[in-house]
Amino acid sequence: MFNKDIYIKRRETLKKEVGNGIILILGNLEASRNYPDNTFKYRQDSSFLYYFGQQRDGLVGVIDIDNDKEYLFGNDIDIDDLIWYGPVDNVAALAMQVGITRSGSIKQMASLIDSAQKSGRAIHYLPVYRAEQALQIAEWLGISVADAKAQHSVELIKAVVKMRSVKQPEEIAELEKAAHIGYLMHTTAISSCKPGVEEQHIAGLLEGIAMANGCDVSFETILTQHGEIMHNHSHLNTLESGRLMLVDAGGETHSNYCSDNTRTCPVGGKFSTRQKEIYDIVVKCHDHALAIAKPGIKWLDVHLEVCKILAGGLKDLGLMKGNIDDAVAAGAHALFMPHGLGHMMGMDVHDMEGLGQKYVGFDDEVQPSTQFGTNCLRLGRRLQKGFVVTDEPGCYFIPALIDQFRAKGLHTDFINYDKVEQYKDFGGIRLEDDIIITDSGCQIIGNERIPLTSEEVESFMINN
Ligand code: GLY
Ligand code: MN
Ligand code: MN
Repeated sequence: MFNKDIYIKRRETLKKEVGNGIILILGNLEASRNYPDNTFKYRQDSSFLYYFGQQRDGLVGVIDIDNDKEYLFGNDIDIDDLIWYGPVDNVAALAMQVGITRSGSIKQMASLIDSAQKSGRAIHYLPVYRAEQALQIAEWLGISVADAKAQHSVELIKAVVKMRSVKQPEEIAELEKAAHIGYLMHTTAISSCKPGVEEQHIAGLLEGIAMANGCDVSFETILTQHGEIMHNHSHLNTLESGRLMLVDAGGETHSNYCSDNTRTCPVGGKFSTRQKEIYDIVVKCHDHALAIAKPGIKWLDVHLEVCKILAGGLKDLGLMKGNIDDAVAAGAHALFMPHGLGHMMGMDVHDMEGLGQKYVGFDDEVQPSTQFGTNCLRLGRRLQKGFVVTDEPGCYFIPALIDQFRAKGLHTDFINYDKVEQYKDFGGIRLEDDIIITDSGCQIIGNERIPLTSEEVESFMINN
């Protein structure tokens, strides 16, 4: 938890941004796994953490803007709970720790909300992403679950997105800690990448590192010699010499700040000529984003410029053809990179995604694309100093997608299908780093660099 003044200031700003009414920010409840008492590892809601800092389950933060009052609500644990959980601060003490003098039970909160509702005041809450939250809102506001899901406050979403998008110095310090965890995870993965080793073994090592150095992985680990499957969470293969192992993984600090890196390395330690050719193009894409990302530029434009580098490189290899600008405008490159260049990152690895991508990544000026590939871009709007985004270009040869594009006769002016057929056993490459936008450009978060270039990766694999 940060110093309480940080939370006090954030809530002050939020009040000004929203203007009037009552703000309700729900902390998460425990979630059962396979029977009620066997729960998933607890994860607090990130917006609750941002404004109220506390990790305990079952809390609700309330900001009554009109009367300038703030509350933390939750039920104190009783003696039956205490024998299982040990001494736990009561809700009043938790409130004081984050600069709040008013607290009460969930029942008291429900009656406060009820009287606010009866006097016709606006009640602002964020979109719900867990079923229990929808049930809570429905019960407290006396509305249907469908209405509870639909009636979130756009004013509150916009205010929270505005604040959480620009990372504060203490958040950057946490992100640097997360970057160190990511460094340990990925260097371990690269040095473990040997023929005959099971994917699951390396995934387990990484997840252990994340837990030993922070609180958890920041998302389900992707570790596979089938990197062409974008979010492949299965780790059932034994690594085979000559293949590529793609690892997309990150750690989360005890304050829930994330890292999200991807590296792709040759099983056996040496890239084949064909692998190195594609790999070096992806490195060029990665570095181009670093070179042009700065305040004021649209992330959509950074994405498109990177796609042109990819298409140009593939044209040099005979996999694409024609005019590169036209190919990217038509979306032909998406056969090879059917995802966006990157997304916001912070306390959520896809930061604030639960608040709605159109509010987080887009605005009146830049709207989400409907074109295949670019429609997966989670961020398009102009960058600002303090934004943290991922730079994650990739190049994949997805047999089913190649077959489908070819059968439909898509982009025949730009894709050399006969050549592409020869790459169907290639797999996929993605390279990902987390960057912060500075005054005039950007920089990779953290001061340790996970081996990136093909030369760095090969040399690291020989020496570790
Ligand atoms: N791990 C998913 C991503 O990189 O966005
Ligand atoms: Mn990732
Ligand atoms: Mn990512």
